[in-house]
Order: sequence, then structure tokens, then C-alpha cells
Amino acid sequence: MRLDANRAPLYEALERHAERRAAAFHVPGHKGRATWDKTDAVRRYAELLPIDLTELSDTDDLHHPEGVIADAEALAADCFGAEETRFLVGGSTAGNLAMILGVCRPGELMLVQRNVHKSVVHGLMLAGARVVFLPPAVDPASGLAVVPAAETVREALRRYPEAKALLLSNPNYYGMASDLRDSIREAHERRIPVLVDEAHGPHFGRHPAFPASALQMGADVVVQSAHKMLSAMTMGAMLHLQGQLVSKSAVRQYLRMVQSSSPSYPIMASLDLARRELHMKKERSFEQALRTADETRAGLAGTPFKALAADTTRGPYAIDPLKLVLFDATGTLDGFSLRDELERLGCIAEMADDRYVVLAFGTGTRPDNGQSLLAALKHIARTHRLEDRPAAGRREEASFFALAKELPEPVILHGEADDTEAVELGQAEGRAAGEWVIPYPPGIPVLYPGEIVTPSIRKQLERWRKQGARIQGASDATLRTLKVLKR
Ligand SMILES: Cc1ncc(COP(=O)(O)O)c(C=O)c1O
Repeated sequence: MRLDANRAPLYEALERHAERRAAAFHVPGHKGRATWDKTDAVRRYAELLPIDLTELSDTDDLHHPEGVIADAEALAADCFGAEETRFLVGGSTAGNLAMILGVCRPGELMLVQRNVHKSVVHGLMLAGARVVFLPPAVDPASGLAVVPAAETVREALRRYPEAKALLLSNPNYYGMASDLRDSIREAHERRIPVLVDEAHGPHFGRHPAFPASALQMGADVVVQSAHKMLSAMTMGAMLHLQGQLVSKSAVRQYLRMVQSSSPSYPIMASLDLARRELHMKKERSFEQALRTADETRAGLAGTPFKALAADTTRGPYAIDPLKLVLFDATGTLDGFSLRDELERLGCIAEMADDRYVVLAFGTGTRPDNGQSLLAALKHIARTHRLEDRPAAGRREEASFFALAKELPEPVILHGEADDTEAVELGQAEGRAAGEWVIPYPPGIPVLYPGEIVTPSIRKQLERWRKQGARIQGASDATLRTLKVLKR
């Protein structure tokens, strides 16, 4: 096929099919018509259901693409600079599972950044991998974790040359993006492939204002949630492959296993349309969102709210300009309260933690959205009399994770919930954890199920318990007891 970036072959095939108005004796049962007795729902779905199709002679098959899906994926590979691109209908979750299963058999070793999304952990559990978790680098100013430092990666590669892959997650949820080139080069020198969960960075490398993409930096497999920061529908994501270090057919095979045999055509076609938008409009796709984000950032001057900014003197990372990570510099409102106040005023954030509120801008952002946000922030400042308060001192985080630099022993993650018992925290030392323990902040798991509770982890858990830290994952959030695996 000659690639024509202005075409959206999959979407166009669905439109052509819908226009035929053929009598449908195939699934789905709605046959392209909204027949519910709720008129609002019928109105909303009526336009979409005619393209909610299935595998037909003219709509191709996601799992064995030879027609319009193959063409749409080839265009996506061209647009993103991959050798091969696969559409995902189960979000980056499906891509993360398949890329891990595609490189790792039971008992094989994986080098994995500790602060990863649960889909990565689930993939490692399914694969039966032996995992060495690499401590992340922690930005001292914000206390937020980014990818492990290149020295940490180098030490892990030296110690575990048998590793099947190095898995990194970049950028983090706050849009903090690291340069992966040194780590990728070191891994490639040992012929170890690098898998990158780039769920939050499908726009990276598509505009000079954005950090480089993982593919541009040389990663072998890259998973991106096109639905998060591009214009695809929710669950629409892509998996990109390049190089010879990973078996493309193995990854394809696992994608067939982890994804539905009835993938959503509206979702897949929205990937085709999101790609066409990027391919044709290029940098212009993001101009409005970038301008709005910049104006909003500038509008914070004179308010008590500040946005996280990259401090390159302290850490070699950049901040995605489409993420506005806000905090109340007077220290009065924590992130959760600020998020709730914003929501009451009609501005709904992507997420919050105890300090920050993360606001995501995207191709659909309009300038008036930024104005609404600034108006809401000014209203909040007035009602809480924040203008009268002095700025709180800068919080430096001497995080446990920043200090715990040594590499842990490999662990096989435990997925079963039944063979655990709760013991007093003091008795847990030396036992294998039976549950996740995730202190917030910074939200990095200190224990995954299966990991040994070392003396330093036990001491740190006791410290957190005394401080009344917020703990997620553990069934006893007060940490009086901890679930461990039965002997
Ligand atoms: C870092 C990271 N990876 C993967 C995922 C999973 O992506 P999806 O929701 O597209 O399945 C998420 C979701 O938030 C994420 O934050």
C-alpha cells in the first residue's frame, strides 16, 4: 500500500459500510440501531452504533490484519516512527501485559523500575518473572519519583546480565520526563531490550515543546495511551516495536491472548482518526492546548497557586507542558481539598495527591477552559483568604526511596490472595509480604506481594506507622499488622 497520511482507512471503511445500510445478520445484536426506550440515550448513541461493527469482509480483523486495519496500523507506524504498530483496545494495560509476556518466560529475570502502574505488575505476575525492582530517582524539591538514575540501571545490568529486558515507565503521572538515552544505550550494549510504558506520553516528540519520545530515544517496545493525551476514545492505545532484540511475533501472539476477540471498532477507528490528525496537522495539533496551558501558567502570577516547574539544576528531567501540576504555595489547602474545590466550581482535574493537583491539557482543550480554571483559582484564593498568608517553606523530601539505593534481591511476585496470614508488624521481618504496601506520598510500593520484609523495610514501616502515614494496598492501613505468605 502507498501510505497516504490524509486517509483514515479503517474509519473510512466503517463509514462506507454504514452507508450501505445492509441487512445485518451478524453480531452485534443492536444491528446498528439504538432501540432502547430512553430517548436521550437513543439520541446519543444513534450516530455511533452504525459503525459499531464486527469482523466482516470489509472491516478486517485486529488479530490477523490484512486489510484496512493493517493499512491504519502501517500509517500509525509511519507517523510515530515505529517499524511496526499495533492498535490496542484494552488501553496501555493490554500493551503492558503483552510486551512483558512477549519477552519473559516463567523464572526469567526482568529489571523493572519500582514505581510502575499495576498493569506492569500484573504482567510480571502472569509471566512468573523474577523481578529486580530498581529504586526510582526522587526529585528532592517535589518528592516525586521519576525513572531510576542511569547509574542504578548500569549497576543492575552489570549485576544481572541474564535479564530478559529492562522496563521503564516515562513520563510519570505528573508529566516529569527523563532522558532515557544512557540507560537504553547501556542495555543495548548487553543486547538487553528496553520496554517503555509511555502511557502518558503519546504526544512526546510531536512538537518541539515536548520531550523526546521513547521510540526516538531507541526503546524496543513502547506502549502509549492515545486516549490519555491524544484524541482517541478511552481504551484506545498503541504498541510500537522497533529493532531486532524483541520477537515481534511473540508480542503479537500475546496481544491475541490478552485482547478481546471482539474489539471495539469505534475505538479502533478513533485511533486511526487521532493518528490522521497528528500526521496532517503535525505540531499544529497541540498549538491551542499549549497556548492555553502557557496562558494559564502565566495567569498564576499574583495568585497563591504555583505550578511545578522543572528544576534542571537538581534533576535531569523535563516537565510535559500539557500537564499543569498545581499546589497551594501557602500550604493551606492540600491537593485533595484543592481538587474538590475546583470540582465544585466546574473544573475537573485528572488526579490529586496530598500536595498537588494534576490538570491535563489535550488536543480538545479550548482557551476558555484555561480562563475558567484561573477564575476558579482566584475564587478559591478569595474564599480561603489565601492572599493574606505567607508562602510556606519549600518542602524537601528526604524520601526513604531516595535513600534506599541498594538493589533488592530478585522476587517472584505473588498473585494469590488466599495463602496469607496477618502477623504483628514486628513478626513480619524475614517473611514474604502477602500484600502490596504503598505509602502516600510518594505512592511508590515499598513492598510487593512476595518481597521479603527486610530489617530496614520493617523499621521504615514502623516509622510510617508512628507518623500516621497514609498507606494504600495493605489490608490494615494502620500497619499494626501485615499480611505475609503462610510458610
Ligand atoms: C503509567 C501508566 N501505565 C499504564 C496505564 C494503563 O493505561 P490504560 O488506562 O490506557 O490501560 C496507566 C493508567 O493510568 C498509567 O498511569
